[in-house]
Amino acid sequence: MEFRQVMMRRLILLGAPGAGKGTQAQALEERYHIPQISTGDILRAAVKQGSPLGHQAKSYMDAGELVPDSLIVDLIRARLQEPDTEPGWILDGFPRTPVQAEALDNLLQELGQSLEGVVLVDVPEPVLMERLVGRRTCTVCQKVCHVKFNPPPVNGCGREDCPHQWVQRSDDREDVVPTRLAAYHRNTEPLINYYQAKDKLHRVDGNRPSEDVLATLTNLLGPVV
Ligand code: AP5
Repeated sequence: MEFRQVMMRRLILLGAPGAGKGTQAQALEERYHIPQISTGDILRAAVKQGSPLGHQAKSYMDAGELVPDSLIVDLIRARLQEPDTEPGWILDGFPRTPVQAEALDNLLQELGQSLEGVVLVDVPEPVLMERLVGRRTCTVCQKVCHVKFNPPPVNGCGREDCPHQWVQRSDDREDVVPTRLAAYHRNTEPLINYYQAKDKLHRVDGNRPSEDVLATLTNLLGPVV
């Protein structure tokens, strides 16, 4: 495993569906006070609100396919200009295609920002399937858990202010997951070479307990200042 401490505060978490990007991004957000920007979460919120973006995205998401690049790039353009991104950001689930990666390069140049690193969270495919099918997500705060690896409390999601129940995401069904994994191999895996060529890529073994993966990531990101 490659390891260099680089004090990253503007980074991408790259990895297959179920690799643990969301789990780690939430933990890093809490520790470093930089926002997790999850395109999946933003799209699911848009679907729930019934916004025009949500209407356009829903059928792709339900089928396990990627949402068109143009919708996603506009969404990220707006999000990266919000004030809470000033100290940094963790992109989770974006970019996911070469077109999105190039659009991000252009956008960051426009904003005068630079990407400090890309962390590939590496997990073997059979493990991904088990993680996705067993995942449960809180309908309100988006916190995730797993029926076997990180069982949810019997009532609510464990946060005192959040009374809602855990649900299975519609795209975590056993019949949809293979389409998502295929979309990852086809569209997103080429980004590994893209960022390796730019000397930005760090590989992290994601097939370990969450706390161990987090410890590696925090070593990589450096101390909280
Ligand atoms: P999105 O929400 O981004 O889903 P994803 O990339 O498929 O990633 P996941 O959220 O499924 O997995 P994760 O890596 O975050 O894993 P998690 O930490 O939850 O995208 C959904 C859809 O939106 C896409 O299919 C597409 O349609 C659309 N979309 C989104 N972004 C797009 C874009 N940029 N372009 C086009 N379309 C886009 O962990 C999974 C489970 O494993 C959990 O239960 C967790 O508790 C458990 N777990 C995590 N880590 C560990 C561990 N170390 N050990 C054991 N269990 C673990």
